[in-house]
Amino acid sequence: GKGEYDHYMLKEIETQPTALSNTIEGRIEDGDVAFEDLPPGSFDGIESVQFVACGTSYHAAMYGGQLMREAGVRADVLRASEYESTSGPVDETTLVVAVTQSGETADTLDAVRKAAARGARTLAVTNVVGSTAAREADDAVYIRAGPEVGVAATKTYSSQAVTLALLTQRIAGDVPDATPVADRSAMLQALENLPQHVEAVLETVRAETLAREMFDSNSYFFIGHGLGHSVALEGALKFKEITYEHAEGFAAGELKHGPLALVTEETPVFAIATGGDDDDKTKTNAIEAQSRGAPIVAVGPDEQPLVDIADAHLSVPETHPVWAGLLANVQLQLLSYYAAKQLDRPIDKPRNLAKSVTVE
Ligand code: F6R
Repeated sequence: GKGEYDHYMLKEIETQPTALSNTIEGRIEDGDVAFEDLPPGSFDGIESVQFVACGTSYHAAMYGGQLMREAGVRADVLRASEYESTSGPVDETTLVVAVTQSGETADTLDAVRKAAARGARTLAVTNVVGSTAAREADDAVYIRAGPEVGVAATKTYSSQAVTLALLTQRIAGDVPDATPVADRSAMLQALENLPQHVEAVLETVRAETLAREMFDSNSYFFIGHGLGHSVALEGALKFKEITYEHAEGFAAGELKHGPLALVTEETPVFAIATGGDDDDKTKTNAIEAQSRGAPIVAVGPDEQPLVDIADAHLSVPETHPVWAGLLANVQLQLLSYYAAKQLDRPIDKPRNLAKSVTVE
């Protein structure tokens, strides 16, 4: 049950430290990544990776896709419902990774079946043991987030992104000419601290007060570069899903190619920072919106350039830039939750949506 919580969603947001500890458990060994059923050599013969997913899982897949490419492996992230029109050539050197917390999403299952029919190797990344995706794929990796009742995916997103990040390192180890990220041991060490960093974010109250200050705006924009781009998309999806307010996520550099026409003082812009090299660009793009009157909310660590220009800041602890986006996302989960609460929405069961979408 939801116990002392008003909503399952808040409970699931607040249990992320435990969920993430379970996700990571046993998967970092002697400074390297270990997956029990997928030892070194398991991906021999694989030359490229396609991630297929829908909705929030697609945003987690974007996280994995970027890290896979940074590790020197060709990787695409495809919307499952558009698999046929976007996949291009597929054969037995292609690994298709289905990212689906339920393991039952019809569009995702359909994409995996099409890929398998063309000879691809398939792997399900899911929260549900015995789900259709887990049974049908050649291999399955479990995200171990525990049951999620709220329709809006929260802890499963975080656990998916972390599982995929680890999996990319494992896969890259088997792909010839791949180049595992240079500071991998620092990255893995920072991951071991992620549960406690999430805990620190949960102790902040700024997202709650900000939700109260801003809930009567026209539209809410979320922008970011790189890993921050996927977090921006996820932040906007969650916000529209449970508040019913208009929200959009953009690659920060795209603002000036159209969406800027919508920006006024009634359009708060949440700009995601990771503490990495992308933040200067995001700052430039945020200033473009700010000079049209938009209030800017920086979401990220204290030591990054967006803080200097932002009107408000949702702070996260210092960590490796690979994980900062996941901490920023926790702030955005809290923002959406408290904005929806303010508007008295049925948070755990938003209208027109279902937890598991078993139709195409
Ligand atoms: C949004 C949300 C959905 C799901 C999507 C895929 O909060 O939960 O966008 O992420 O329907 O679901 P799974 O991961 O079960 O394939």
